[in-house]
Amino acid sequence: MTGRPHREWRSTHDHPELARTGFVTTHLDAVVIDLGCGFDPRPARCGAPDDVDWFSVDLPPIADLRRQFVHVPEHVIGADVTSSSWLDTIPRDRPAIVVSDGLMALLSDEEYRTVIRSVTEHFRAGEVAFLAYSRLAVRNSRRVRISALHVPTRGEGIDDPHEPEAWNAGLVLRRELFKSHAKEIRLFPPLLRAITRLCERSPRIARAGGRVLHYTFNRSTHSLTPATRR
Ligand SMILES: C[S@@+](CC[C@H](N)C(=O)[O-])C[C@H]1O[C@@H](n2cnc3c(N)ncnc32)[C@H](O)[C@@H]1O
Repeated sequence: MTGRPHREWRSTHDHPELARTGFVTTHLDAVVIDLGCGFDPRPARCGAPDDVDWFSVDLPPIADLRRQFVHVPEHVIGADVTSSSWLDTIPRDRPAIVVSDGLMALLSDEEYRTVIRSVTEHFRAGEVAFLAYSRLAVRNSRRVRISALHVPTRGEGIDDPHEPEAWNAGLVLRRELFKSHAKEIRLFPPLLRAITRLCERSPRIARAGGRVLHYTFNRSTHSLTPATRR
């Protein structure tokens, strides 16, 4: 992608955090973007090589707090990701990994699609992995109020993991990662572990438990209709 030799950085199964995010094999000169990073010190857990540029993006007040309290190797960007200008300072000619863990719940379906389209338009090629909610999980989140801080999911959810391939973002499904596939399941108490594994037998139920959808995109092999940007 950049003309430089690519060596494997890490594979999903080497590290529980990478397995959780679906953050698979990447390149030593990658650009990583964590959309809606919150206070998650993911860069520290992932141990990215020095040449990787890691951009953690969240709304300006959260980004300010993150700069003060989360000290990890990264560039913090304070921006609303549904606007288009925040990407301007990010190098576009390097392989990119875009992750988002929890952001999808807080945006409308159209906003989330627009965000994903804008990142895949910005880069030539890369990977996108995000925590996705099924329609059943979304309905449940509207029915059950877990705490005073509970915010119901705004979008409708995604059942078929191929749906995002139709977002005009050039995404090609690589895999769907259920919670039960994660190595950390070994650390669960036996009953919870058994229930989690049982749930995997029904994709509908397993999807309601949350899963990571992982895609590749390569604009040199996909012709995209220019997406509408806000
Ligand atoms: C559920 S939290 C997840 C935080 C973190 N990824 C984690 O796993 O701990 C979602 C985050 O998305 C951020 N967020 C919501 N809307 C956003 C927007 N329009 N632009 C940027 N960040 C946003 C919130 O401020 C929040 O930090």
